[in-house]
Amino acid sequence: MFNGKVAIITGAAQGVGAAFATRLALEGCKVVLTDQQEKIQTVASTLGASYHVGNVADATHVKSVVDATVSDFGTVDILINNAGEVLPTGPSDDWNKSLQDFDQIFGSNIKGTFLFGRAVAPIMIKQNSGEIINVSTDHVKPAPGSNRHHGHGHMDLYNASKWALNGLTFDWAKALADYNIRVNNLCIGATDTEMLRSWSGSNPDPKLVNTWMKPEETAEVLVQLLLEGSKGRTGDNIGLYAGHPCVLPKAEE
Ligand SMILES: NC(=O)c1ccc[n+]([C@@H]2O[C@H](COP(=O)([O-])OP(=O)(O)OC[C@H]3O[C@@H](n4cnc5c(N)ncnc54)[C@H](O)[C@@H]3O)[C@@H](O)[C@H]2O)c1
Repeated sequence: MFNGKVAIITGAAQGVGAAFATRLALEGCKVVLTDQQEKIQTVASTLGASYHVGNVADATHVKSVVDATVSDFGTVDILINNAGEVLPTGPSDDWNKSLQDFDQIFGSNIKGTFLFGRAVAPIMIKQNSGEIINVSTDHVKPAPGSNRHHGHGHMDLYNASKWALNGLTFDWAKALADYNIRVNNLCIGATDTEMLRSWSGSNPDPKLVNTWMKPEETAEVLVQLLLEGSKGRTGDNIGLYAGHPCVLPKAEE
């Protein structure tokens, strides 16, 4: 099904992005990887993939990744906006720190998605098909019975940036539906990656770590979502939760 499909995956040097890249390459996609870390080169060479080093919030970088992809492979079928960052932030932070944190978090989590979306949309419209998947969080789509909507108290910018993804995803889903382009948010919960490990302190309790999802499990759900094809759900927030079966939920009515 994916044989020869061209997929751009951002933030693919480690964690969820690396698992998505590995799985899509295994499924026969031509994968193009980006990350701000040089070690993206190692992931890419293992997969025989193309790679680019740069910041997703940099319009020149984004344009050059998309232009190079079209020039090398002719098109872009799948875009996975996975790159993201978290920092501890809150309303009583120092003014200058807050300004810096805002630019960094919104740059990685929103501007990058916005830029890649804008750069690939005309290509997908022209070919009358496409898949855009934005990686969000279960803070936006909490597990049934959980009260995470009530906030955390120390991640206002992260949460605001991920809620802002809804604006792009829902609007793009509407605007692009006539061109058989689907746009969905994968709202993942606690997943065992460098991000969550460093957020949880240097030595997280192994019992807790055991409850976290594995990046490879979220990659399986990504594949299931892509397999729905152009008649599948669009404009959906798809929740995956630690401690629950990591499976593609039914589409929302
Ligand atoms: N791990 C979790 O528990 C969890 C939970 C909810 C959502 N998420 C989301 O999943 C996505 C992947 O997270 P992860 O856990 O694999 O994190 P990670 O930190 O392990 O990997 C993220 C990758 O994105 C890259 N990146 C970040 N900002 C970038 C930028 N501006 N330009 C280019 N590359 C950039 C990093 O260099 C890194 O390689 C993120 O969007 C994150 O918010 C993760």
